[in-house]
Amino acid sequence: MKKVQNIEANKSVLFERVFGEKPAYEISAAGRINLIGEHVDYCGGKVMPASLNLNCRIFARQNGTNFIRAYADDLDETAIIDIFSLDTCKGLRWGKYQAGVAYELHRAGYPLVGCDLLYSCSVPFGSGLSSSAAIEVSTAVALNVVAGNTYDLKEMALLSQKAENEYCGVNCGIMDQFAAAMGRKDSALLLDCKTLEYEYIPFELGKYEIVVANCNKPHNLVESKYNERRAEVEEALAKLKGIYPNISCLADVTPAMFEESKGVLRGKICSRAEHVVYECARVNEAAKALKGGDIEKLAALINQSHDSLSKLYEVTGREPDALAYAAREQEGCIGARMIGAGFGGCTISIVEKDKAEAFKAAVGERYKKEIGYAASFYDTSIEDGVTVRAL
Ligand code: GLA
Repeated sequence: MKKVQNIEANKSVLFERVFGEKPAYEISAAGRINLIGEHVDYCGGKVMPASLNLNCRIFARQNGTNFIRAYADDLDETAIIDIFSLDTCKGLRWGKYQAGVAYELHRAGYPLVGCDLLYSCSVPFGSGLSSSAAIEVSTAVALNVVAGNTYDLKEMALLSQKAENEYCGVNCGIMDQFAAAMGRKDSALLLDCKTLEYEYIPFELGKYEIVVANCNKPHNLVESKYNERRAEVEEALAKLKGIYPNISCLADVTPAMFEESKGVLRGKICSRAEHVVYECARVNEAAKALKGGDIEKLAALINQSHDSLSKLYEVTGREPDALAYAAREQEGCIGARMIGAGFGGCTISIVEKDKAEAFKAAVGERYKKEIGYAASFYDTSIEDGVTVRAL
């Protein structure tokens, strides 16, 4: 507790140094893991993310100008965004997400005011734990809070996704922003990405815990590969619609329907669709397993998910595979898989609590030997997606 207060005091001091006054609010939105349901959100499937203690925190106050001044504590850099010409910031390296969110808020009719925002983000960038969604959602909430607007968190998630898709040009699905906005402490969020219906499932793993590991592969080409996968599953959907005219997304295709019709799909397109169809089925089973406390079953599904992402969807690569397979070989680990977009990023492993430390040491050593550089392990807990506090 003391430590947290100290960090806050430091940020307030820093805020005052950067902007000349004390902040009035502290807002945060979380990074996420995803238990299962990978690369299915943009196919209308269900996903099962949970929001983390790693988050993007914003210290904020109105500044009486027409500008949003956004300062990043790790980069020591400030973006200045004019609230009357929000469409001119697409080229910003730092500040683009903030400008995109402000742009979408404005288009949706939310009044904006000039404000000072200090960003402190503990979600590692490019880790697959969704730092961008944490930045977007915390920005959406902060801009509303300083302007005194009422807002709906679900709408903030959708608006943040729109900013990422249209303003920032990244064609992501809704999972990350929804988890950042709607995640709840000690709960997994079972979200139907077609209807946006959701429920919370208690995140109770009994004698097990989740270990989050980053393979630390340099982040590159993720966006183009991601968009390539999206195009491939759209091609599959178009072909399957010829057979099942009533389907509106790949998640509408059951495994039985897929087996009947897969002859119309060739090569890679068939593999991509197979991943989506069976991953959607696995999410339903995983939700049942988690609700029933059958963690071994959940872990088996998590392993199948990784294998499918590796072999059928081809979004893992050498490093995430090395990390997941090294994890599975350790005593006390019953399941491991990559999470997020892939091509690097993080894995989650389900590990017996009292073996977790030995697990990290052994996997770390094995990974370094195989890949040549170290993996990172994070101490995580499942926390509320968004927090808002007047200071
Ligand atoms: C990224 C995207 C999400 C989702 C995952 C893969 O995190 O932002 O929308 O598609 O990849 O499941």
